[in-house]
Amino acid sequence: MNIGILTSGGDSQGMNSAIRAITRTAIVKGHKVFGIQKGYQGLMEGLFIPLDLRDVGDILHRGGTFLQSARSLEFKEATGQEKALAKLREANIDHLVVIGGDGSYHGALALYERGFPTYGLPGTIDNDIACTDYTIGFDTTVNLVVGLINNVRDTSTSHERTSIIEVMGRGSGDIALHAGVASGADVIIIPEVEWSMDEVCQVIHEGFNRGKKHGIVVVAEGAASGEHVAEEIERKTGLEARSTKLGYVQRGGSPSAFDRILTSRMGDKVIECIESGISGVAIGIEGGEITSHPLKEVLSKKSTFDVKLYEIAKNLSK
Ligand code: F6P
Repeated sequence: MNIGILTSGGDSQGMNSAIRAITRTAIVKGHKVFGIQKGYQGLMEGLFIPLDLRDVGDILHRGGTFLQSARSLEFKEATGQEKALAKLREANIDHLVVIGGDGSYHGALALYERGFPTYGLPGTIDNDIACTDYTIGFDTTVNLVVGLINNVRDTSTSHERTSIIEVMGRGSGDIALHAGVASGADVIIIPEVEWSMDEVCQVIHEGFNRGKKHGIVVVAEGAASGEHVAEEIERKTGLEARSTKLGYVQRGGSPSAFDRILTSRMGDKVIECIESGISGVAIGIEGGEITSHPLKEVLSKKSTFDVKLYEIAKNLSK
């Protein structure tokens, strides 16, 4: 079979590892693989390159995606999708694996509903895809953020300040929650849970009163701006506060061992689906098992939020 692979939307660490896993597993099992450059935009333009075993060498440990990624408005329209299908047929590609987030899954579903076998791998740092406990890149990002918060904590202690660290995640608070727990944050502000500035200030104030030498607040970009939270803390408490927006440093760098193993297993699973005639599915990991669910089902559900972990974070911030 001829299998196309593309990466789409915001990149994430582990995408290269996923491309490598799919390519090598497919070739070992007797299939041909084509890399599609620049996401759906490249698909419509026919930017296809044949991939051999060696073409995916030396990329396992690299962040980003060597196929590159893009967000395409044209592909959202029926004419764009028809253009893409024509290019796939012209190149004799009969299966398409899409590595990306929510928007990329919508694209894969649109092609599937037009009769083309597509498959999704959850490539996004946000961990906001349903039917998977982890998305590709999330673990790496959380580890990166924890390291950066450690640095911020050092200087916050020296100056007895409160540091507000704003992290990515779009509408999801998972990066903030997990990095916040792992770095002992005093307050975690996320879109999934109601919060108030008064409560935040009270926690920080009480911390200093108990003898803490710094305050750490982790804010998900989907909940508030770190800058605003810092200004409000200073205004309401009179304590010094500084905001750090981590930005794109969170999305690059070498993938963690977890993300490399996850993508190796997902690559194997997607080839298994292709060979058993199960298409229109997204691959996930649930309770440690690699699973597949229809793209339609995945897109109709919300990713789960770990309320228990949030409660634990509150208890441990004392
Ligand atoms: O979805 C991944 C993500 O990094 C989000 O966390 C962030 O909000 C967004 O992408 C940034 O998008 P862009 O790369 O278009 O600036």
